Amino acid sequence: MGAKAAVSRAVLIAQMTDIHVGFAPDEAGEELNLVRLRAALARLADGPNRPDFLVLSGDLTENGDAASFAKLGTLLADLPCPILPMVGNHDSRATFLAAFPQVEAAADGFAHYVVDAPLGLRIICLDTLEDGRHGGAFCESRAAWLAARLAEAPDTPTLIFMHHPPVVAGIDWMDPAPGEPWITRLAAVLEGQRQVQAIHCGHLHRTISTRFAGIPLGITPAIAPLVAMDLSPIDPDTPDARELIVAEPPSYALHRWDGENLVTHYEQVGDWAVLARFHAGLQPMVAGMFAERD
Ligand SMILES: [Fe+2]
Ligand SMILES: [Fe+2]
Repeated sequence: MGAKAAVSRAVLIAQMTDIHVGFAPDEAGEELNLVRLRAALARLADGPNRPDFLVLSGDLTENGDAASFAKLGTLLADLPCPILPMVGNHDSRATFLAAFPQVEAAADGFAHYVVDAPLGLRIICLDTLEDGRHGGAFCESRAAWLAARLAEAPDTPTLIFMHHPPVVAGIDWMDPAPGEPWITRLAAVLEGQRQVQAIHCGHLHRTISTRFAGIPLGITPAIAPLVAMDLSPIDPDTPDARELIVAEPPSYALHRWDGENLVTHYEQVGDWAVLARFHAGLQPMVAGMFAERD
């Protein structure tokens, strides 16, 4: 080995989002989204990247029903790490709280909470659900709660998860309007909060990277099928046969915190061909890369 160790121990936070259990069975009668979730969980369990936490960032079910939450719970039962579940617009908060008793609703009734992770990282999970609304919500009560959480640890590196991205991404039919009040309210809370390392969301079913209130913001693609990659404007009154949902593979994020830096990786789950392995033939190449480190 060269002058520096390859990788020191870091905290790994997996994020799976938009599972949509209960959306539709496939032709064999097996629910497609459960098949996709099972593949993603197997990749985590059997692969080299065992997470310390698994964040489930909302739209865990399609219709918010207890039966779908129960199916989800069955698949998650053997997971060897803590789960941080969150609500999305397809979920019902009351049913969600009944399904995940480890989440205690805050005094204001919302399913938002804080978790202290190793290596000095604080995780804040927000609740952006407003019943009956597709888009996000962030009311005065939630703004006050987040402001208080940030104020109590202003020097602690903090990672925020929320279901709805507070940004216009360019996928017209999924986007909020620019300057929606809930977005302005959230931005006002986050402005100048330098301890916030990043915000990671779901909802858009695509991999997207941007900034919000000066903070890096990522959107993790879905376990369920993805939203089509189409950035052209849409006329909601004129069906134009564009692609809306496509069967791209399920994906998840792995957020790696080493005590100083937060780095996010995304993996598409699939049975990919392995084109090179670390066998003796490639050992000189790998060793050479180590040797040039200083
Ligand atoms: Fe979704
Ligand atoms: Fe959503």
